[in-house]
Amino acid sequence: MNRAPRNIKACIFDAYGTLFDVNAAARALGDELGDVWLPLAELWRARQLNYSWLRSLTGAHVDFWQVTADALDFVLENYKINDPALRQRLLDLYFNAACFPEVPAMLQRLKAAGLITGILSNGAPAMLEAACHTAGVADLLDHVISVEEIGVFKPDPRVYTLVTDRLKIPADAVAFHSSNGWDAHAGKRSGFFSIWINRTGQPRERLPNPPDVILNDLSEVPGILGVA
Ligand code: LAC
Repeated sequence: MNRAPRNIKACIFDAYGTLFDVNAAARALGDELGDVWLPLAELWRARQLNYSWLRSLTGAHVDFWQVTADALDFVLENYKINDPALRQRLLDLYFNAACFPEVPAMLQRLKAAGLITGILSNGAPAMLEAACHTAGVADLLDHVISVEEIGVFKPDPRVYTLVTDRLKIPADAVAFHSSNGWDAHAGKRSGFFSIWINRTGQPRERLPNPPDVILNDLSEVPGILGVA
């Protein structure tokens, strides 16, 4: 496994799927949704990403909250669920997304070691602020960067340069972490030291610019970065 180079100054994280659990909203309503909660959550996520890519390709941008609601409406119709109150509860839970359990301690260790921390996400600023607050990690993140600054979604290369523009450090001083393989490839393409958090044991993506390191979850990040 590759150790990170010594010149890393900043640790930047994707938000949804990486810090925040995209399945948590449907799981929380599992008693009502029944066995379909997981396929419903997975289809919601897949459609959300598809819509983000299609909107970027066609120049028809809306923010990620609208994309998330549109994707949910597709999914609920697919499962023949017509329940406005349930829809609203799913959206409220997604807005206040739960973080994965290892996230707070991992961020604390990075901060204690003097590293800059931040998020780079498709998420709209209000979603990201709510999720960071709910997870209790707002004080552990120095930067929360949303693609809304430029109105185009990942993996457009302009998104990744938001990090170096904001932090005013070279790309090779950034460790970029994403549970989305395609996002980790795009981060590598932009010059970051790229870490794929492969939480679900996916096969490697057949895309250019593979990540430098593949981890199972974020608890292993401080070790890779040489942080005690
Ligand atoms: C994000 C999506 C890709 O947070 O998960 O940017």
